[in-house]
Amino acid sequence: MVKLIIDTDPGIDDAMAIFYAAAAPDIDLLGLTTIFGNVTTATATRNALRLLEAAGLDLPVAAGATAPLVLPPFKPSAYVHGEEGFGDIPAAEPKGKPLNEEAADFLCRMAREHKGELVVCPIGPLTNIALAMQRDPEFIRNVKSIVVMGGSLEEGGNITPHAEANIYHDPHAADVVCKSGSKVVFVGLDVTHRILCRPEDFAAIAAQSPDLGGMLQEMSHFYIKFYREVAGLNGCSLHDPAAVIACTHPGLFGMRGVPLEVSCGGETSGATLAAPDSARAPIKVCMTVEADAVKSLFLRRLALLP
Ligand code: RIB
Ligand code: CA
Repeated sequence: MVKLIIDTDPGIDDAMAIFYAAAAPDIDLLGLTTIFGNVTTATATRNALRLLEAAGLDLPVAAGATAPLVLPPFKPSAYVHGEEGFGDIPAAEPKGKPLNEEAADFLCRMAREHKGELVVCPIGPLTNIALAMQRDPEFIRNVKSIVVMGGSLEEGGNITPHAEANIYHDPHAADVVCKSGSKVVFVGLDVTHRILCRPEDFAAIAAQSPDLGGMLQEMSHFYIKFYREVAGLNGCSLHDPAAVIACTHPGLFGMRGVPLEVSCGGETSGATLAAPDSARAPIKVCMTVEADAVKSLFLRRLALLP
């Protein structure tokens, strides 16, 4: 059983990842922390509460930073995930409220309370993780691992030719995380671009899980339309679900130990760069994946949802 906190900017593939975690028998989801990226932090927090309530989970949600560590705040683009973060699904107010505790403080406290056991899975920009590291030097020692959806070593970028979106949206925070050493795993575009979910896959999920699967199928129409227009693909990459699956099934990923630096300015801002001559400890970067096995696990477990 993996004790897990997901740091999220929901977001369509974030919703898939969170519902997967809700269905996974080997995940003890302890809560969510929220961050800007696909949407603003306020919308991410509202959406996180909404997803947990839809899944029938009474778990804490801690709202995170509202701006990057150094870069100025930005208005999220609605092009990929829609104005409200769930494609064309209209906004809805959750019943619950977030904690009166900032995400970074919640992460530090939970890492202390679950010393050596907590896996943190950031699937948005890394601002909250960097703040937790800066606020508590013990944080990186207390966590078991940090499994990031982010970066790209040889695949190129998705928001610019050089950068993956989560890293691009806060490169300074990502560089803080890359300095922190060997407990960090990057599940980046080198592997997530190998895992494609098609309209018929979402239809199959919805047939077996009418409520939550139906919600994901509805979101997927908007997301796949983006992939068709931008990449000519009849499907979408399982970016965030792949990171959550790497928390419990690391054996499905081929990992390479690489010291990483992050470009923090100019045309390459947000690029994750191998830095073999740096004094940094190697990050575990996923470079290969058993894509069919990851997709099958995703589809099988989502089918268990109501
Ligand atoms: O590049 C893909 C990542 O950026 C995913 O986490 C997606 O949700 C967006 O946040
Ligand atoms: Ca995300």
